[in-house]
Amino acid sequence: MYTEQVMDHFMNPRNIGVIEDASVIIQVGDPTCGDSLLLFLKLENDIVTDVKFKIKGCGAAIATSSMTTEIVKGMRLEEALAVTDEQVAEALGGLPEEKIHCSSLAVGAVHAGILRYLSPAEEDETM
Ligand code: FES
Repeated sequence: MYTEQVMDHFMNPRNIGVIEDASVIIQVGDPTCGDSLLLFLKLENDIVTDVKFKIKGCGAAIATSSMTTEIVKGMRLEEALAVTDEQVAEALGGLPEEKIHCSSLAVGAVHAGILRYLSPAEEDETM
């Protein structure tokens, strides 16, 4: 049911860990399944210079988070903001229909993290 690429990223996830001097740390969760992701972004000169994550989630969430970090690392912030769930699923050779939502965990975290970094004042207003 999973492609070879999904199994590879599930069994050997890339960029697992923490970034001690992260520019942004963001936690996101999927309330429907209870899975959650803690994402660390290092952003310098408009570039995602490093990204790491810790996760409590299903195999598809692990694989898509791993692939998302591979895709966005080295990107300009605006490019990373344009990355979509579909792009991540495609890079993994596709996901089973019922697992497509899992890819939005990491992509959503990247987007939310960068937006928070770009507009810290807005974040404060909502807190
Ligand atoms: Fe929760 Fe996959 S089932 S993210």
